Amino acid sequence: MINNGIFITVEGPEGAGKTTIAQRIVENLKREGYQAMYTREPGGISISEQIRQILLNSQNTAMDGRTEALLYAAARRQHLVEKVIPALEAGTIVVCDRFIDSSLAYQGYARGLGVEEVYKINEFAVDDAMPHLTLYFDISPEIGLRRIQQNKGREVNRLDLETLDFHQRVRKGYWQLLDQFPERMVKINAEQPIESVFQDSWKTVLKFLLNR
Ligand code: TMP
Repeated sequence: MINNGIFITVEGPEGAGKTTIAQRIVENLKREGYQAMYTREPGGISISEQIRQILLNSQNTAMDGRTEALLYAAARRQHLVEKVIPALEAGTIVVCDRFIDSSLAYQGYARGLGVEEVYKINEFAVDDAMPHLTLYFDISPEIGLRRIQQNKGREVNRLDLETLDFHQRVRKGYWQLLDQFPERMVKINAEQPIESVFQDSWKTVLKFLLNR
C-alpha cells in the first residue's frame, strides 16, 4: 500500500453518474487546496487506451471471457505503473473512474469467471496498490441504462450491448464486494438526483480525509 497519496476509486454500473461526480470531486479537492488528479480505466494513458479500443469495440463479439479479464488486468497494470503510482508517490489524491472491483463484478461475477479467479490475476496486476476508499454508486440497471440512452453524446460500447440480466448480475456482484470489503467500500444511492449523489459522495470523501 502506498502511503504518500490517497487512492480513491469510483465504481458502479453504467449510467450511475460516476464520471461526472469523480471529476467534480477532483475540482472540489483542488479548490480546497489538495493536489488531486482524475483518471479512468480502462485507459488513462496511450497503451491502456489502445487496449480499451479492443475491449470496447462492439465488433469484437467473439472475445472470450478470460481474454477480456486478462486485457482489463493488462490495461490496469500499465495505467497503474505509468500514471497512478507516480502520482501517489508525489502525494496526489488520485480519483480513478473504475478499478479492480469492475473486473470482480463484471468478469468475475456477471460473466461467471469467478470472483476469486479474477481476483488472482488482478493481484498479479496491482500488487499491493489497492484503493484506500471506494465509492460504489448503486443504481438499478433499468434506470442506469435509460440514463445512458438519453445521453446522446456517449459512445455505445460492447458491454452496453449485454442483456439486462447481465447488468443485474453486475449489481449483485458489487453487493457481494460491499460485504467482502467493508473497510474501504461505501455505498452511495445513485438513484437520487445527481446533485444529491454528488453531495453524498463529497461528504464521504471529506469524512475519510478528516479521519486519516
Ligand atoms: P465506462 O468507461 O463507460 O465505464 O466503460 C467501461 C466499460 O468496461 C464498462 O462497461 C465496464 C467495463 N469494465 C469491465 O467490464 N471490467 C473492468 O475491469 C473495467 C475497468 C471496465
